[in-house]
Parts: sequence; C-alpha cells; structure tokens
Amino acid sequence: MKIAIDRGAPTPLHVQIAHAIREQILAGALPGDGRLPPSRKLAKALGVNRGTVTQAYQVLWSEGLIEGRVGRGTSVLPASAGSETRYAPLPWETLLTGGSEQDDREVREFVRLIDRDDLISLAAGLPAPDLYPMDALRSITDDVLAREGRTLLHWCPVEGYAPLRRQLAERLAGVHPNEILILSGSTQGIFLLARALIAPGDLVAVQSPTYIGALQVFRAAGARIVGIPSGAEGIDSAAIENVFARARPKLFYAVPTFHNPTGETMSLETRKRLLRAADRHGVPVLEDDPYAMLRYDGEELPSLKELDAHGQVLYVSTFSKILFPGLRIGYLAAPRPIVERLKSGKHLQDLFTNSIGQAAVFEFARRGLLEEHAARMRDEYRARRDAMAEALRRRAPSLAFSSPEGGYFIWAKIPEGSAARELLREALRKKVSFVPGDLFSPDGRERDRIRINFVSHDPETIEEGARRLGSALRALRREGRTESREEPGRPIV
Ligand SMILES: Cc1ncc(COP(=O)(O)O)c(C=O)c1O
Repeated sequence: MKIAIDRGAPTPLHVQIAHAIREQILAGALPGDGRLPPSRKLAKALGVNRGTVTQAYQVLWSEGLIEGRVGRGTSVLPASAGSETRYAPLPWETLLTGGSEQDDREVREFVRLIDRDDLISLAAGLPAPDLYPMDALRSITDDVLAREGRTLLHWCPVEGYAPLRRQLAERLAGVHPNEILILSGSTQGIFLLARALIAPGDLVAVQSPTYIGALQVFRAAGARIVGIPSGAEGIDSAAIENVFARARPKLFYAVPTFHNPTGETMSLETRKRLLRAADRHGVPVLEDDPYAMLRYDGEELPSLKELDAHGQVLYVSTFSKILFPGLRIGYLAAPRPIVERLKSGKHLQDLFTNSIGQAAVFEFARRGLLEEHAARMRDEYRARRDAMAEALRRRAPSLAFSSPEGGYFIWAKIPEGSAARELLREALRKKVSFVPGDLFSPDGRERDRIRINFVSHDPETIEEGARRLGSALRALRREGRTESREEPGRPIV
C-alpha cells in the first residue's frame, strides 16, 4: 500500500493517511476482503505515531469503509452489492426528512380546495388580474431588453439591480442603498431573517391572527410562537409590553398597515408605544408592509421603519400586491450587518433575483407609471371594497365586520355558535369560498372569523359571491349547526 505524506502541509497527518487509503479503496486498488496493515506496522513504515494511524482508521471506520475485528485486524468492507432485482421504486416518503414543510403541504392542499376555478373564490390573497398593466409591462420589458438585455440576462449581483436599490432607498427616507436587499418576494426576506435570527426553540412574537406565510416560516425555523391578540380594536400595547418584558422574544413580526387578515391599521400612538417597548427590551421588529400603497381613505401613517430611531426595525415589502405576484420581487431595508448576513443566505438559495423583472420594475417606477398604476388601483379597489361591504350587508346581514381603510381583506365574524369550517363546507356547496380564521392563528383560535378578499373580482362577481355566501349562512342556520366538535387542538398551519 502506497501512502505519501507531506509533513509541511497544513492538513493533519491522520487526515492525509485516511485520504490516501480511502482513494485506494474507492479505486478498487485494495481488495474487498483485504486486510489493512496493523496500525503499529503502518506507523513504523510511515514514521508516525501509532495513534495517528489509529485516528486515520477511525475516520475510515466512521465512513463505513473498513471494519475492525478482535483477532483479525482491520479489513476493507466489501461494497454493498445492492439488489439484483428492483421490486419497487425508491420509497421517497420514507427518505424525506421530517421537516415542518408537512404543514405547508396541508395548507397548499387546503388552498387547492378553496381556490378552484369552478368557485367564486374570495379566498385568495391575490390582486385583480383584469387590472394588470400588461401593455406597459410589455413595452417596458422590450425597452429594457433592447437597452441592457445582454447584461441583465447574464448576471446580477446578489443584493440586487443597483438602480432599483437606489430608487427604493430614495423612496424609503433615511435608508442608504447598501441597506437594501432585493428579494425573490418578501416571503424570502422573512425566511432569510428567520434563518439568521432564530434557532429551534426560540420565541417569536406575532400579532394574532397573522399572515399564514410568516407562521409557516417561523414554524419551519423551529420557533415557539406567541400570539399577541390583534383584532378589530387593534393590538393591545400593554400586552406587547408584557410579552416583551417577560419573554424577550427574538423577534416581533408585525403587519401594521392594512393587516392580513384583519385589514386593521395600527394607530400612530400604538406604533410609537411598540417601538418604545422594543427599544426598552431589545426586541427586533420585523415590519411586513406589502399593502402600504393601497390606502383608500383616512390619513397616511409613517411606517415603523420611518419612526425607528435606533435601527431596530427590519422592513420587508413587495411588488406582489401593487403589481403582480408573478414578478417575485420584494425588498428588505435593514442595518448593514443584517443585509450582509442575508446576502450570504440568499446567495445559497437562488444566487440572485430575476434581473429582467428588477429592471422592468425600476423603469416602470422611473417613468412615473408605478404611482399612476397605484392611483388607479386605489380607485378600483376602493370601489370594490365598497361593493363588497354593501353586498355583504344586504346579502349576508348576519356577518359582523368593519370596512378597512386599505389593503385587500374584510375580516368578518360569523354568527354566534357557528364555526367557519362548517360554513366553508356549506359555502363550497354553493360555489363560493373564503379562508376560515383559524388558519391565521398561531394556536387555532379565530374559529368564528372568515377572511374575504374584495379586490380580485369585478363588482358583479362580488355581488354574486356575497349572495352565495349569504345563502350558505342561512343554510347553516337552518340546519342549526353549532360550534364544530372537530379536534380543536391542531390548526391546519
Ligand atoms: C403580509 C404579507 N406578507 C407577504 C406576502 C407575500 O409577498 P411575496 O409575494 O412578496 O412573497 C403576503 C401575501 O399574501 C402578505 O399578505
């Protein structure tokens, strides 16, 4: 057996020896039942300590390449022969690791059920495809490809297309372009932050209810999640203070403006109190702000990021809600060390975000079309919100809700004693759907709430959807169904 060792190399001697033997085993240069020299003999031949050879043998043993038997020395294990006949395909289910993506599959299956084409789906969290600015996008994409197609199609820095980073930094007052990271959707930002900040068992505080995607990410990171009640009356700032002081969460995740699912907007006073509490107890705040450009009435409020005096707010937003989710372009604004860390994580995940999309979004905004489009969306969506609220009041008067000042959703309470899952079963029969409230809860609450999307459909479809929903509510009442006796414990996400 030939083993060359280099005493001047930085690699430890036992690693060099293991490496040389491994190469010979894998190349078939040592017979399958061949004996390796006793460690004392090999050590002497190589001029090293016996312990060094023993260590090398241990490495090979832990790799399953050799075995040691009392009285018979150390020998190379034969390669596993495999089976002559393949009886069945590989059992993939048993090969998968037990990750929390299982939860994700349940949600996706659920979404398939409520988001079918044969229904009027009031369930999706998506914009209105009939209002997409297709012509503008087509001509801008043409221009962008003609101007810088070769560069864009070739490669893009992981942190994003520089002109878009500069443009976003200008829009988010007080942020430097180096503090911006372009994301493949804001969900990627939540995921990367969770990876960077949360170890299994860490506590994450959220508004309860909250965005399902964020709950899934935090669960996948192995976080314990504590929900701070945040209903129609807004979040209770005393409860925030209490949770921060007692439990010191690693992160507080919030959607302060036109919340998903409740539609609520945190008051200026609550924003300030939240930031004071975060500052006092050293809790980073993740502000998720996808709906900010979609205010239909009321006064514009500063984001938490804008109010943040101490660099405690990590901000994510997206073009999915104001333009199209298919773009997969979101962004993060955060202190430099966080951006640097997340850049590495993003590099491992997808190298960089779709660069044509980034350049098109930049150009769309540069030409003033983003503001124009947002103004049009506000007018359309305001009308749709009012159409939905009015239709629900007439067609489904047993629902209790208030109209949000912006965003996509109405969060409604169904009559006392009913369960949203029961109502959904009835609604699916009537060919309409919504999302039952417990999906948004970290602990399976909100069973008497439903989330209704009011932006995706034109006013006639909204009217018909509300009619079907009212009919499902009446059918449920006729049958006298009360609170479901289903397993209360585990929520679907
Ligand atoms: C609060 C919130 N954050 C993030 C997202 C997802 O955004 P993106 O498409 O950029 O991943 C959504 C969409 O449903 C949302 O409601």
